[in-house]
Amino acid sequence: MVDNIKWHSGEINKAAREELLGQQGMVLWFTGLSGSGKSTIAVEVEKELYRRGRASYRLDGDNLRFGLNKDLGFTAADREENIRRIGEVAALFADAGLITLASFISPYRSGREAAREAAGVENFKEIYVKASVEACAERDPKGLYAKAKKGEIENFTGISAPYEEPENPDLIVDTEKLSLEESVELVLGLV
Ligand code: ADX
Repeated sequence: MVDNIKWHSGEINKAAREELLGQQGMVLWFTGLSGSGKSTIAVEVEKELYRRGRASYRLDGDNLRFGLNKDLGFTAADREENIRRIGEVAALFADAGLITLASFISPYRSGREAAREAAGVENFKEIYVKASVEACAERDPKGLYAKAKKGEIENFTGISAPYEEPENPDLIVDTEKLSLEESVELVLGLV
C-alpha cells in the first residue's frame, strides 16, 4: 500500500505541458456494450483530431488485454481491476496533455466514477455509446454474441453479465439512430 512512499512533484506541471501542446489534456471515456460502436467512433475521432493537429492517444479494451491487462478475464473482479488500471493510465495520459480516448465496456458505474476521479472531473467526459443488446447481437462483428448465446462464452455483457447504463453521461451517442459521421461530430463537440 502507500506506506513509506511520498508523492514527488516535478517542476513542469500539466498546465505547462498544455501550453506547449496548445490544448487541454483530457479523457474521452467511451462506455457501452460490445458491438455498440465505441472503438469504431474512437478510431474516427482520433483520425479527425490528428487532421486538426491535436495530440491524442487511444486506449482500447481488446488491445490493452494483449499487454498491460493480459492477466485479467471477465469476472466482475477482473473487469473492476481492468477499469481501475485503465482509469489510472488514462489519467496519466491526460496529465501529459493528451486528448485520451478510452473505449472499454466498463459495465460498472463505480469503475467509471473512479476513472473520472483519477483524471479529475474537469478533465473527463463520459460518452455513452448506446445500442440495445438486440442491435449489438444483430451486428455481432466478432461473432461473440452468437457464442455467448450458445453458452460458449461465460459472463458475456448483456447476455450473462450486467451492464449498468450511465445515469448522467456528458454525451449519449445513439448508434441505432446516428450515422458514424454524426456520432464523430457529436464527440468532437466535447473537445
Ligand atoms: S470490460 O468489461 O473489462 O470493460 P473490455 O472493454 O476490456 O471489457 O473488453 C471487452 C472486449 O473483450 C469485447 O469487445 C469483446 O471483444 C471481448 N470479450 C471477450 N469475452 C468477453 C465477455 N465475456 N464479455 C464482454 N466482452 C468480452
